[in-house]
Amino acid sequence: MRILSGIQPSGALHLGNYFGMMLPAIELQERGEAFYFIADYHSMTSLFDPEQRRRNTLDVAIDFLACGLDPAKSVFWKQSDLPEVTELSWLLSTLTPMGLLERCHSFKDKTARGISASHGLFAYPVLMAADILLFDSNIVPVGRDQKQHVEVTRDIAIKFNETYGATFVMPEPQIRESVAVVPGIDGQKMSKSYGNTIEIFGEEKATRKRIMGIQMDSRTPQEPKPDADKNLAIQLLKLVAPEDVGVDFERRLREGGLGYGDLKKGLFEHYWNHFAAARAKRAELAGNLDYVHQVLRDGAERARSVATVVLQKARRASGLC
Ligand code: ADP
Ligand code: TRP
Repeated sequence: MRILSGIQPSGALHLGNYFGMMLPAIELQERGEAFYFIADYHSMTSLFDPEQRRRNTLDVAIDFLACGLDPAKSVFWKQSDLPEVTELSWLLSTLTPMGLLERCHSFKDKTARGISASHGLFAYPVLMAADILLFDSNIVPVGRDQKQHVEVTRDIAIKFNETYGATFVMPEPQIRESVAVVPGIDGQKMSKSYGNTIEIFGEEKATRKRIMGIQMDSRTPQEPKPDADKNLAIQLLKLVAPEDVGVDFERRLREGGLGYGDLKKGLFEHYWNHFAAARAKRAELAGNLDYVHQVLRDGAERARSVATVVLQKARRASGLC
């Protein structure tokens, strides 16, 4: 079984990225051949500062390794180290109906927020299809917002296979329902673009302030709160605290007696402890960048040995050679 996923270097990684995609990906390392990459080509649709892209790419590499991506178990590389993917993207784009891309929520959301649409932003799902199909991927672990892109990939693969003969493996999205949409500090989906994130490796003081600033209603601590399970801090606490602790906080909030300040304090403490080991590993990696670069170079080489075979198959099937 081949597992593949990518993450864009478009800003600091947050709890939505961690619980929605990174943790499932890390756990899947044990279950098959894991292929994970940093989608720097994709980041070019929304980030236009070269230095920042370089810095973010290295940060994502360090963060992912610190969180448990194990290069002995997973192939880990930087997308643009394999420009083959852009060639496959072209082959696929010639079979991709415009209407399929026009229907993509992610494209519609971005244009609705006033981001002017480049051809690259519009064609983004085709490049993502190339990422997935180039490695004969079976399983693609992602958050719910990426599900449609994997469905688009399947449509494109079917079209290619019908036109040029069986070439690509059909991928399946894998979404962990309990964390399909991790909420941000304003209750919307946590996202870099909404400015509502809690970073995995945020600075201590700033993150405490952010968590203590989460808006709550005006009910007094004593009042029972039958809707305790809907409380944002409870939802986040349940992700970062041991199960019995989460259940206990929720019970105390429901019954009355737990103030919002104490709840948020508990959330911060459990968040901070949850990532303590990863934070130490991160500091170690940040002091050993040669190692991080070497991991990505080795990963690119291993990824290339798969990609070149699949690309050649697609070239032959379509009559390019
Ligand atoms: P962002 O929305 O912050 O820009 P990305 O689009 O780069 O995040 O997402 C990277 C990965 O993390 C994707 O697989 C995405 O589905 C997942 N992800 C992002 N935000 C969340 C969230 N709030 N809940 C669950 N998964 C998420
Ligand atoms: N589009 C994905 C995101 O923003 C990142 C990505 C690019 C990806 N290529 C991929 C995810 C291939 C899974 C498979 O999160």
